[in-house]
Formats: sequence, C-alpha cells, structure tokens
Amino acid sequence: MAPGSHPGLFITLEGGEGSGKSTQARALVARLRAEGPTVCATEEPMGTPLGRAIKGLFEREAPSRSREPGSDEVIVSDWAELFLFEAARAQHVRDVIRPALERKEIVICDRFADSTTAYQGYGRGLDLQEVENCNSIATGGLLPDLTLLFDIDPEIGLKRAVKAAQSGDALRKASDSIGEETLDFHERVREGFLAIARANPDRFVVIDAAQPMAAVEKSVRDAADGLLARSTLR
Ligand code: TMP
Repeated sequence: MAPGSHPGLFITLEGGEGSGKSTQARALVARLRAEGPTVCATEEPMGTPLGRAIKGLFEREAPSRSREPGSDEVIVSDWAELFLFEAARAQHVRDVIRPALERKEIVICDRFADSTTAYQGYGRGLDLQEVENCNSIATGGLLPDLTLLFDIDPEIGLKRAVKAAQSGDALRKASDSIGEETLDFHERVREGFLAIARANPDRFVVIDAAQPMAAVEKSVRDAADGLLARSTLR
C-alpha cells in the first residue's frame, strides 16, 4: 500500500515565480514514465477545462484589485481570488487527481493547496485557518504524499521569470504570474511556503532552487525515489 490514503502516489511541486518547478515537473514525469509507472501529469489551476476557464477569466478580464465606485470594471477581491482557485481545485480533485490515484497512478501536480496557503494566506494576508478550511473543503481532505518545495530568493526568481518572458512564448505566462505584485508580496509567499514546510516535515522536501540545474534534478530524483521505495507501486 502507498503511503497516503489512496492506492496511487500523489506528488506536488510548489514554489515561487522563476523557481524552475514546472521544468522540474516535466523532467520528473519524463523520467518516471521511462521507468514504467503510469504517470498523470497535471497542474493547478489549469488541470481541467473549468480551471482553464477560470485562468482565462483572469487573462481576459485582467481584473483589478480595486476600482472606482460605480465603474463596470471586473474586480477580484482577495476572497474572490481564493474561491476561484478553490473552485478550480475542487473540480480538479474530483475529475483528475482522485480517479488517477484510484487507478494506482503516480500523480505529479504542478501547484496544489499549499500555493493557496502561501499566496492567498501569507501573501495576501487572509486568515490562515480559514484558508486551510477552504483548502480542506476543496480537496476533500486529500493531502500529497510528497511535496517538493523549490525555494528561491524572489529577487533571483523574478529576474529568471522576466528573462524567460523575453524569450517569447513565456511572455504572457510570466506577466500573468508576476502581475503587479511587489517584491514584498513574493517575499511573504516565500516565507509562507517555508513555514508550511517546517510545519509538515513528513511530507515536504525543500530544494534550493538556486543550485545548478543538475543538483536540483538530483534532489528531485532522490526525493521521488525515496517515496517510491516506501510504496508498493514500484
Ligand atoms: P504558475 O506560475 O505555476 O503558472 O502559477 C500561476 C499563478 O497563480 C502563480 O502566480 C501562483 C498563482 N496561484 C495562487 O495565487 N493560488 C493558487 O492556489 C494557485 C494554484 C496559483
């Protein structure tokens, strides 16, 4: 039986902008697939059609965080933003993650509920206990078996993300992600992720994402292999 309360294995990747987690997620998926197990590669909030529509709503409407009284502009309050991410998550857990875990697959998910705690809780300052309650409703209590946290100084991460943006098709993604947030916001998010990791040492592996790529990849491989060795999937 696998470590979690499901027949499969659930691995999430978390981190701030420019931490390289999405590149690492793709590399991990490719490596595991080459070794045999069936892998479900997914991401939040884009893992379902509803999630993509929600993300598209942000992109199309470019919602502000405040507006002139009486204006028709689309705004998104901090709580509205949280519920949009939770709506995407509830659908994603029900339609994608749970079914794959029930089929005994390895689910590799780029961002999950810890992103909401870090960004909406620590970043925006929403009450952490209430954020946790919302996460728990959206996930139905599902927790990852392993969470890889790609930790990086936001100044370095944001520079990396901007550089990637200048290379073309990443432009839209980076500008969405970075948005208009201040460095302070990203520092709170980073501290939030580290605090969540300290509170959940059994599930988290913190990886220094400023290391050379090969060292980061090795840390990912070691952590994933450790989990597989403890499970009966291999
Ligand atoms: P990405 O950088 O992985 O594409 O993530 C998209 C953005 O959405 C990123 O800035 C983090 C943010 N986000 C939240 O604020 N809360 C969440 O719950 C999730 C899943 C993402």
